[in-house]
Amino acid sequence: MRKPILAGNWKMNLTYHQAEAMVEELLSLGKAPESVESILLPNFLCIPLLADKLKGTGYQVGAQNMSSEDQGAFTGEISWDMLKDLGVSYCIIGHSERRTLYLENNSQIEKKLRKAVKTGIKPILCVGESLEKRQAGEAKKRIEGQVHRALVGLDREDLQDLVIAYEPLWAIGSGQAASPEDAEDMCLTIRQWIEKGYGSDLAEKIRILYGGSVKPDNIASFMEKENIDGALVGGASLKAKDFYALIEGV
Ligand code: G3H
Repeated sequence: MRKPILAGNWKMNLTYHQAEAMVEELLSLGKAPESVESILLPNFLCIPLLADKLKGTGYQVGAQNMSSEDQGAFTGEISWDMLKDLGVSYCIIGHSERRTLYLENNSQIEKKLRKAVKTGIKPILCVGESLEKRQAGEAKKRIEGQVHRALVGLDREDLQDLVIAYEPLWAIGSGQAASPEDAEDMCLTIRQWIEKGYGSDLAEKIRILYGGSVKPDNIASFMEKENIDGALVGGASLKAKDFYALIEGV
C-alpha cells in the first residue's frame, strides 16, 4: 500500500506573518492524520518558521526548488544542505512554472533531481503537457519524454523516494481540473513507464500525484483512482480550512 501525499505548494504567496497565521490556524483545526503525508511547501523565507511551528505535529515542510550545485558563487540559489539543515524533507523539481517562466530545461531538471536523490532530499518531479500537445494527441509522449529526461543515469536504488506529480499545464490555476479518468490514465502511463524501465517493485512503490485545480470538493474523485496517490495543490492550499479539508478528503 502506498501512503498518500497531500502537498500544498504555496508558490509565491503568503508573507512571513501571513504564513504564521495560516499555520497557527491549521494547527488549531486538529492533528495531521497519520494515514496521509501532509506537506507544506512555502517560499524559502518561511521555511524556518514552518519547520519550527510544525515540528512534532506530523506535518512536513518542503521546498519549491533547489540548486543542482553544492555551494559557492551561485547568487540567489538555495542548496540541498541549506534545506536539510532546516529539516526539509521534500523538494519540488521541474514545476511547470519553472520550466515555462524561468526556462528550466530537461538537463537542469535532471541535474537537480540527481542532486536531490543523492543527498536524501525526496523529489517531487513535476511533468505535464500543454493544451496544444494534448489536442495534438501527444500528451503521453510528452510526459514520458519528461520523465525519461529527468531520470537519465539514475538507477532503481536512487529512485526509492521518488514522487512524480502529473500536472497538465492547462489545469494549473485555471479552475478546470483534468477529469479523474484522464488524470488516472496519465498516472497509469507514468507508472507503466517506470515499470518498463525499473521493474514492477519500483513502479508499485512510487507515489504519483495529480495536480491542477484540485479543491476540497473534487479531491475525492481523484483519490478514488487506483494510480493516483495524492495531490499537489496550489491555490487551495493557502487557506488553513481548505488545506485541512483537502487532507481529510485524501
Ligand atoms: O503545484 C501546484 C500546481 O501547480 C497546481 O496549482 O492547484 O493552483 O491549480 P493549482
